[in-house]
Amino acid sequence: MSNLIRSVVTGVGAYLPEDVVTNADLAKVVDTTDEWIVERTGIRQRHRIASGHGVSDLATEAARRALAAAGRTPADVDLIIVGTTTPDLTFPAVATMVQRKLGCPIGIAFDVQAVCSGFVYALSTADGFVARNRSKCALVIGAEAMTRLMDWTDRGTCVLFGDGAGAVVVEPREGQGTTDDRGLLGFALRADGTKQDLLYVDGGVSTTGEVGKLRMQGNQVFRHAVVNISEAVVAAAADAGVALSDVDWFIPHQANQRILQGVAHRLGIDEAKVISTVALHANTSAASIPLALNQGIADGRIKPGQLILMEAMGGGLTWGACVLRL
Ligand code: ACO
Repeated sequence: MSNLIRSVVTGVGAYLPEDVVTNADLAKVVDTTDEWIVERTGIRQRHRIASGHGVSDLATEAARRALAAAGRTPADVDLIIVGTTTPDLTFPAVATMVQRKLGCPIGIAFDVQAVCSGFVYALSTADGFVARNRSKCALVIGAEAMTRLMDWTDRGTCVLFGDGAGAVVVEPREGQGTTDDRGLLGFALRADGTKQDLLYVDGGVSTTGEVGKLRMQGNQVFRHAVVNISEAVVAAAADAGVALSDVDWFIPHQANQRILQGVAHRLGIDEAKVISTVALHANTSAASIPLALNQGIADGRIKPGQLILMEAMGGGLTWGACVLRL
């Protein structure tokens, strides 16, 4: 095995807005109950962005915390990629707003729009810069204000989503070219545009001129999620050259506790190895994986050097998985 540059995660941070909305709060707005939501989804509460705030505010705070964890400053950052589907403005990109708010020098900054798969797509994209020595210090962020896309009369969707942001600092490090190396070891990304009708927002700049509301055929998405995510997980593990039994922690996109369990069951993964934050955060789309990663590190479960498998599925449909040694 020859030496090569790996994209290594050197710091993780997250931010959740203060306002917590419980299932009981939602039962006052739509015809639902805490029992239904908990039984069908595992969700107990979600955070909601304050009025007057934008996703860039959440992303900036998560990034600040990730930089502190990595022992880096904004002056070090030369690349920012934000996975988001709920930007402050149609343009410019949230990434450029984060750059300005943090005071980072001129560099590369852009958003990736892959909905709930946004973080997996963004991290894999960052690897194209970092592992080719095009970036010395990258910020990869997942940040969303999904509550802004809700139809508050649709009980089938408005109870499922929440707001938040998570960020990682990614830096190049020389590896040996083995699976013992720290860094992103492999990934698999997928999209199937023919499934658009299952999950989309019914507005946009070039059509209605309105932001629109999220529409979802939940049970159809559920079915595709379990089957397709499992395939991508196996493909990402093969790309990394690891066996699923080598993986210390599975960090799924936090859409629904039953999907998490369904994927784990299908792949023969011990549920004790699955990080789940869906009860506390609900579905925060591109933010959910870095939020869960941050939670697992903060509570002492995830440790440096461990092998992590992240997977997600979202609107598009898009889906994918990444294998990372922390
Ligand atoms: N409270 C009470 N009843 C409800 C609610 C609610 N909040 N929502 C739906 N129901 C009712 C329905 O009206 C239906 O009633 P009916 O039988 O009288 O018609 C019944 O519950 C069953 O509805 P289903 O939609 O079949 O329920 P299901 O068990 O499939 O659960 C859910 C719905 C939770 C949405 C599930 O399908 C799911 O989690 N799907 C996947 C979501 C997902 O993963 N999305 C991907 C990422 S999101 C992104 O990319 C932005």
